[in-house]
Amino acid sequence: MTPPPILHLLLLLFTAVLLLTFPPNAISATTHCPNCGTTPVPYPLSTSPTCGDPHYRIRCNAGKLMFDTVNNSYPITSINPSTQRLVIQPATFLAPNTCVTSDYSGQGVQLNNSLPFNITGSNTVMFFNCSAEILDSPLNCSSTNLCHVYLNNSNSQEEEAACRAAPVCCTFRAGGGATAYMIRVRPGGCGAYTSFVNLDAGRPVGQWPRPGLEIQWAMPQEPLCGSQVDCDEKSTCAADGSGSGVKRCYCNSGLFWDGIRGICANNVTCPSPGGCGGSSNTALIAVYVQRMVEEERLMEAIHPKLKENASNLQLETIKALAFLALNCLEEKRQNRPSMKEVTEEIEYIITVATTKDAYTK
Ligand SMILES: *[C@@H]1O[C@H](CO)[C@@H](O)[C@H](O)[C@H]1NC(C)=O
Ligand SMILES: *[C@@H]1O[C@H](CO)[C@@H](O)[C@H](O)[C@H]1NC(C)=O
Ligand SMILES: *[C@@H]1O[C@H](CO)[C@@H](O)[C@H](O)[C@H]1NC(C)=O
Ligand SMILES: *[C@@H]1O[C@H](CO)[C@@H](O)[C@H](O)[C@H]1NC(C)=O
Ligand SMILES: *[C@@H]1O[C@H](CO)[C@@H](O)[C@H](O)[C@H]1NC(C)=O
Ligand SMILES: *[C@@H]1O[C@H](CO)[C@@H](O)[C@H](O)[C@H]1NC(C)=O
Ligand SMILES: *[C@@H]1O[C@H](CO)[C@@H](O)[C@H](O)[C@H]1NC(C)=O
Ligand SMILES: *[C@@H]1O[C@H](CO)[C@@H](O)[C@H](O)[C@H]1NC(C)=O
Repeated sequence: MTPPPILHLLLLLFTAVLLLTFPPNAISATTHCPNCGTTPVPYPLSTSPTCGDPHYRIRCNAGKLMFDTVNNSYPITSINPSTQRLVIQPATFLAPNTCVTSDYSGQGVQLNNSLPFNITGSNTVMFFNCSAEILDSPLNCSSTNLCHVYLNNSNSQEEEAACRAAPVCCTFRAGGGATAYMIRVRPGGCGAYTSFVNLDAGRPVGQWPRPGLEIQWAMPQEPLCGSQVDCDEKSTCAADGSGSGVKRCYCNSGLFWDGIRGICANNVTCPSPGGCGGSSNTALIAVYVQRMVEEERLMEAIHPKLKENASNLQLETIKALAFLALNCLEEKRQNRPSMKEVTEEIEYIITVATTKDAYTK
């Protein structure tokens, strides 16, 4: 007789709980900004002084997110909070038949270097209509460089034709040094530019991505506070130690600051030595599953594959194991069962499952 699948179920259950796809909106830090139109505004990005981290200001304008630089403003086309990156749409050309971008009068993209944003090294930036002076710069302005390939092969719009007529164009891979904060167009420099994120220059120009300029933000620090009322119950308002008088909401002991979610999170530990560890992903899942239980929807947290062909008894067993797993995820150590208790509980669940199995066979 083959052994009951209960041990496999146990392993699968823990795997399933870990692999659970986590719905992005199920947990929201209280400091999250509301959506801009239908676009989520992930922490720490801030569309108003009362949400997000105000150092990470962006603008919500008629349902569209905008990124403001020192003199100009650009639409945000995508945001990736887990890599702390966003992509803006570079300026388009000012007018047909000119090789000048619309942000020329404000001198292009200039990030304020006291803010926590810079330009990533994933951008391939091309400058067009450059003056001869620029040839001394670290840019590659050779007659074979990529901007010529682009101009020769792009869909021959009037603007690009104008750029083709201008003798000097240059290409560089952004990131590093002074270029990390600006893509400058100006008199005596270049009249126009564009940028591509993660460009594979080996591909034909027709297969290049749409122009984009990727910007990265620094991981946010704990939120600023004047006094304890500005912090939640998981953190304490305290001086930041720099002697500048700045105070921040520091997470209470046992919790750590999760800059991606903008909350104080707990390090979940499992009762087994070398068990499921303390990654914030595990913590997310723990919170998520606990929430589901509150809503009596525990079974929804179980991977559908597990439920597919399960008998009622197997479903009951899964539920029992799930509740046990939940106890292991309790925030307070004293609420979590010991390893011995877990073993006994699993043995009990197996006994019930196999005994009933024997009856139903
Ligand atoms: C090139 O840029 C300059 C400004 O730097 C502008 O005056 C000129 O019209 C541009 N050339 C073309 C062909 O658009
Ligand atoms: C754009 O910003 C620079 C400083 O970064 C400034 O020198 C320049 O005058 C500004 N231009 C306009 C048109 O505001
Ligand atoms: C840059 O940001 C700092 C801090 O927010 C601000 O005080 C300063 O005025 C900004 N500078 C420019 C040129 O926008
Ligand atoms: C400039 O780009 C061309 C074409 O990609 C390359 O062959 C050349 O070595 C580059 N020159 C410099 C100085 O990097
Ligand atoms: C671009 O086209 C011009 C004119 O047809 C040609 O002289 C030049 O070699 C081409 N450059 C590249 C990099 O393809
Ligand atoms: C850009 O910002 C990232 C994240 O803050 C940082 O790691 C990197 O050193 C910065 N690069 C430059 C050139 O400032
Ligand atoms: C909690 O987890 C964070 C991030 O994984 C880590 O930096 C920190 O040292 C952990 N703290 C404890 C007490 O384990
Ligand atoms: C469920 O049963 C069907 C039909 O026997 C089978 O094709 C499928 O692979 C089973 N699913 C799982 C997860 O075992």
